[in-house]
Amino acid sequence: MIAAVMQEVSTRLSVRQVPDPVPIRKSEVIVRLRAAALNHRDLWIQQGLYAGIKTPVILGSDGAGRLGRRDVLINPSINWSSGAKHPPHPKKYKILGLPDDGTLAEYVRVPRQNVYPIPRHLSMEEAAALPLAGLTAYRVLFSRCKLTARDRVLINGIGGGVALMAFQYAVATGAETWVTSSSPAKIKKAIQLGAAGGIRYTEAEWDKKLTTRAGLFDVIIDSAAGKGFGRLVKIANYGARIGIYGGTTGPIEGLIPQIVFWKQLNILGSTMGNAREFARMLDFVSRHKIKPVIDKVYPLKQVNRALKRMQSGKQFGKIVIRIED
Ligand SMILES: NC(=O)c1ccc[n+]([C@@H]2O[C@H](COP(=O)([O-])OP(=O)(O)OC[C@H]3O[C@@H](n4cnc5c(N)ncnc54)[C@H](OP(=O)(O)O)[C@@H]3O)[C@@H](O)[C@H]2O)c1
Repeated sequence: MIAAVMQEVSTRLSVRQVPDPVPIRKSEVIVRLRAAALNHRDLWIQQGLYAGIKTPVILGSDGAGRLGRRDVLINPSINWSSGAKHPPHPKKYKILGLPDDGTLAEYVRVPRQNVYPIPRHLSMEEAAALPLAGLTAYRVLFSRCKLTARDRVLINGIGGGVALMAFQYAVATGAETWVTSSSPAKIKKAIQLGAAGGIRYTEAEWDKKLTTRAGLFDVIIDSAAGKGFGRLVKIANYGARIGIYGGTTGPIEGLIPQIVFWKQLNILGSTMGNAREFARMLDFVSRHKIKPVIDKVYPLKQVNRALKRMQSGKQFGKIVIRIED
């Protein structure tokens, strides 16, 4: 089969012929992929900025394709099969695409229980864009932050794949949803998709300006962390929930503890999700007819261009890889 192989870190992926995967355990199946999607994780791995890297490896956590006569998508959260609050065996927990070979290929080997029918309103490419971001967004927003329609929510950095899914869920829930971005164009697109408003997080005193317009926030969803995190606690309402699933700008700095305890804040870490959450996420997406926003689609042979686009941060929505015959 053709696959995009990371031979070693900090090099371009090599799109080349490799042996087809075969099931190792009875519980495993081989999915013929039609589309895959990128996540920031793929870039972190390629840059050598991820734990437990082994090479060579086929990257890619998101995929959709055919299993027998069924159109399917894959839950990349492997060995977190129950409704447990965290992976039952942290050492056994795996995300598809490292250490096991992933979806930037014509075929992938996965546990049968990680394969689900594609929601009927989604195309193959939209289905491929959903799993990792959709699951992470679902858990952080609903399981961890308990979002309701009565909450005012802020999605920090709307250009992120997970952020945009969380945004779409929040709007579908009926919550008043605000965004930040480095890009006025992305804020405009979010408003077209139902945001109450937005502000550039690169503007001076954006936190004060935003609360003057919007008020304080009951739920804040963040993957940036870093120096900016201190501002998020300042704009949080009393008893607010701040969900954090990433650390794109590094360790949290400048967090004022007095604000955290005085406002009775809840800072909630979240990673991926369990099988029950994946099924509920698919159900939610089907019920609300949510379609992941797709930024651009590239053929597999242009995967390095697709990774460059993700690195540029210019994307709004998921970067999808089409896998042809
Ligand atoms: N724990 C998990 O399960 C999990 C799952 C998925 C992702 N992640 C992590 O979450 C992060 C985002 O990943 P992704 O694939 O969703 O996103 P992505 O598509 O790579 O997007 C990153 C976005 O982060 C935003 N950003 C950058 N600097 C920011 C800042 N200072 N303040 C606010 N926003 C900022 C930017 O938004 P604008 O373009 O709008 O400025 C950028 O587009 C990564 O660190 C990733 O490793 C974790």
